[in-house]
Amino acid sequence: MEKELLTLGIESSCDETSAAVLKGGRTILSNIISTQIPVHQKFGGVVPEIASRKHIVNIMPVIDEAVKEAGVQLSDIDQVAVTYGPGLVGALLVGVSAAKALAFSLGVPLIGVNHLEGHIFANFLAAPELEPPFMALVVSGGHTALVRVKDYNHFRMFGQTRDDAAGEAFDKIARVLGLPYPGGPRIDKLAHEGKPTIDFPRALEEKGNYEFSFSGLKSAVLNYINSERMKGHELNLPDIAASFQSSVVEVLTHKAFEALEASGLDTLVLAGGVAANSALEARLREGAAKRGVKFYFPDRILCTDNAAMIACRGYYQAQAGMYSDLYLNAVPGLSLQDVGED
Ligand code: KG4
Ligand code: ZN
Repeated sequence: MEKELLTLGIESSCDETSAAVLKGGRTILSNIISTQIPVHQKFGGVVPEIASRKHIVNIMPVIDEAVKEAGVQLSDIDQVAVTYGPGLVGALLVGVSAAKALAFSLGVPLIGVNHLEGHIFANFLAAPELEPPFMALVVSGGHTALVRVKDYNHFRMFGQTRDDAAGEAFDKIARVLGLPYPGGPRIDKLAHEGKPTIDFPRALEEKGNYEFSFSGLKSAVLNYINSERMKGHELNLPDIAASFQSSVVEVLTHKAFEALEASGLDTLVLAGGVAANSALEARLREGAAKRGVKFYFPDRILCTDNAAMIACRGYYQAQAGMYSDLYLNAVPGLSLQDVGED
């Protein structure tokens, strides 16, 4: 039997320093995540300079720990996969530099990975039976998109956001409500205590439109809060959280199923940090059961930024010979582009 390759994955695009060792395409031997959230919390968001410095301090210890926990030696690693975008440039550069140095010194191939593709591939780790084709709803702090995944190296963008990403909207509204960073999980929790009594807008709901827009919703929530304050009313924070969340979740759910139907696929996959949202997961699960389609989403630890998903994407890229050279650079504005030919 052919030896299963060991892939070292490295992720440092935002506020998590992570390293993972993967055996073959789907077996996680280790997935170490060192989060900087407590450091950035007092500033209400990620401070790029601080993030870069923390990554520099953390990167080698995190890689050492990943290798140790996997029960292997660095010299056993067959290839190194690293996030090269999108993300904060200084943060990305730390991971990219470490990965290049390791690949060069170990004499093994380097694989530059698009972070957003990594989020989609987290699903292969969570569900060993999952195979393309499927429709992926990618919802993170910086992106909201519907992507048709035809096979492991063949994606088509179905629609994305025109302005804010869903996670960004969660974080901004949370900040206005006085909740700490990151806002998504806080709103999720608060929404459980409230009811969606306020009618906030749902943008671009017309049939056949697979684009998203969350900036109008954000303004509507801010206007509502200001006008309630001016009237001297006390704000019902749980209801505001529940109403805002319900607007986001409804739009995401509605468009995801429309896109699935339009593409003739029978499998929907959820990816990105916002995939951890309990209401979104529940609505998609319900919708999938009603329509008789399959629905996958990763465990919470694989939803948010982690290196195992980067190693997984890297493994499948390498299978197709999609390697990088040692000139690989950080690309902060990298988007989820079409990959492969039709
Ligand atoms: O994918 P991710 O970890 O980082 C990026 O690549 O952007 O996503 C982070 C985003 C943040 O905006 C955070 O507030 C949001 O995911 N998030 C959530 C939840 N957990 C994390 N949003 C809504 N509900 C959650 N439970
Ligand atoms: Zn992410």
